[in-house]
Amino acid sequence: MYGDWYRKEYKAGQNSQGEQSETLLSDTESSDSRQKPRRSTISRCGITVLFLASLCVAAGLGAWLGSRWHIGADHFCAAHASQYSPIRKDVDITYNVIRFNGSLLKENVYRQDAGPDVDAAWASLGVDYRSVMIPVDEAAKSGLLADQVKIADKYGGGFPANMEGLHQLHCLVNNGHSLLTTFADKIVDQNLLRKSLYYNFDHYHALGEGAFSNSDHILRHHVSHCLDIIRQQLMCTIDTGVLGQVWWNPSWPEAYVDFNTQHKCKNFDAIRQWAENHQLPKDIPFDFLQPPQEGDTIYEHIP
Ligand SMILES: *[C@@H]1O[C@H](CO)[C@@H](O)[C@H](O)[C@H]1NC(C)=O
Repeated sequence: MYGDWYRKEYKAGQNSQGEQSETLLSDTESSDSRQKPRRSTISRCGITVLFLASLCVAAGLGAWLGSRWHIGADHFCAAHASQYSPIRKDVDITYNVIRFNGSLLKENVYRQDAGPDVDAAWASLGVDYRSVMIPVDEAAKSGLLADQVKIADKYGGGFPANMEGLHQLHCLVNNGHSLLTTFADKIVDQNLLRKSLYYNFDHYHALGEGAFSNSDHILRHHVSHCLDIIRQQLMCTIDTGVLGQVWWNPSWPEAYVDFNTQHKCKNFDAIRQWAENHQLPKDIPFDFLQPPQEGDTIYEHIP
């Protein structure tokens, strides 16, 4: 009943539209034949040729631009979608498809229980690299303010800084004023979240190194700082890829989320290498930092 009505309405709509367009067409045709009697076919041909030629030129130009764009796309994307720092200038940043290891039960070296092997694996990612120096003329572009902590002129000047990505990896707590002087001792919390996992905590707490040398109250703040920095980074670069599902268990197939998915990743190792090569010296003289100058902001509390 409903279907019949729908079909009728639909047909009627079609008909009236069809008629309308027919009328329009015949109108144009009649006026055409009246006003422009047999406009030369030659000029029509000419226009067609011209049109096709410009199409070819446009296609050629498009292909050429496309090939150039392809070469420069990684550079463009890195420049467009990341905060500037000298790394972007010095490192040839490329994007490559990487398959994540999202295994549930097969643990890779980064997931091992507390101990020297897993510590070494994380260390190899550059999580405990020392700060680098950002030259004065790169500072503003890199988001550093003129009155932030500087290296004394006699040691070359510039701004001490840490690469965000490595900070996120090692979750370093940067107390600013003592970044360099006590750098290796109390302030660095290499992969603090991992070390604070309930099954790792006792091991690292007993070792009492890095963040674990602080009171439990401060340690707690360090841990939640790390968690929240990583939250913000994940939100900032929110991954719009999708996780499909796979079947497992041949005798009783069950759906399971496929965590081993593909991602477009920056060439981490080249960037890590830059951070390794640009580390400030291990032993920092006591007057390495330039003291705050007149007018420099000095916060009342740790920001
Ligand atoms: C993930 O890592 C584990 C441990 O190294 C390995 O056994 C497994 O095959 C890896 N899975 C994928 C999908 O690469």
